[in-house]
Amino acid sequence: MPIILKNVNFAYAKKTPLETPALRDINLRIEKGEFVGIFGEKGAGKSTLMKLFNGLLRQDSGSVSVDGLDPSSREVKRKVGMLFQQAADQLFCRTVHEEIAFGPTNFGFSKEETEERVLEALKAVSLDREVLLRSPFSLSGGEMQRVALASALALRPDYLVLDEPITGLDPGGKTETLEALKRIREQGTTVVTVTHNLKGFFPLLERVVLMQEGRIVFQGSREEYLEAGCGPLPPVASLMRELKNRGLPVNPAAFTVKAALEEILKAKSAFEEKT
Ligand SMILES: Nc1ncnc2c1ncn2[C@@H]1O[C@H](COP(=O)(O)OP(=O)(O)OP(=O)(O)O)[C@@H](O)[C@H]1O
Ligand SMILES: [Mg+2]
Repeated sequence: MPIILKNVNFAYAKKTPLETPALRDINLRIEKGEFVGIFGEKGAGKSTLMKLFNGLLRQDSGSVSVDGLDPSSREVKRKVGMLFQQAADQLFCRTVHEEIAFGPTNFGFSKEETEERVLEALKAVSLDREVLLRSPFSLSGGEMQRVALASALALRPDYLVLDEPITGLDPGGKTETLEALKRIREQGTTVVTVTHNLKGFFPLLERVVLMQEGRIVFQGSREEYLEAGCGPLPPVASLMRELKNRGLPVNPAAFTVKAALEEILKAKSAFEEKT
């Protein structure tokens, strides 16, 4: 069963002069096994939206359900793993081991089972076992990010919800995290990610959700998104759109270098045949 949001509205600081509407009439369905990207400018409501998925925030009106359950239920805390925008903020234990073991221990798994999950999660994010005894606060930003991801993974969540998971990482860290997420998705976990990094994420996405001022203004497949041209585009697709606008007969939906090159070469031979 999916995550379903129906006619959801949410405002911060309700009934005060600082009241800020953050989500307006949101209707969204996230199917099991999808890789979904949520895009939108600063303040569009992306982080607020994801906090409804595991009950961290509660909607003012409308309904949210996760596999038919209320997001504030304990079972949903296990089903939905979260990585916040500032991953370091979610770390609080003395050692990396305690950090990753926290979820499974808290859910009452045996010591052996917890240990197995800690090692599995560590492997999934490509971190070495030697970090287990270190303080999470002695790690680099990229390593902290991956420890936070590992602690979410240790509960073997059905849904992994990530807020800007590769922002601020160096290129190596970005590639490793993207590869880890790809593997996690291939193993059947649903991945929902908020991102500005279209270049890195676009090839992985199966569905795109675009937010503007608290509303969902587009949701559809990656191809439909490119076709609609209503939001930010990955760099190659942006170039192809520009070429198309300048009159070159290329497909503006090509977003990989290989596909773009094929399109340009096709346009070139069509041009040469004409002349
Ligand atoms: N704790 C808060 N208290 C009051 N208003 C808030 C709070 N958090 C967010 N907001 C407001 O709610 C709206 C949506 O914010 P949100 O953080 O969900 O946006 P976002 O799309 O995640 O932005 P960004 O890309 O900058 O992370 C914004 O107007 C923001 O100022
Ligand atoms: Mg945010």
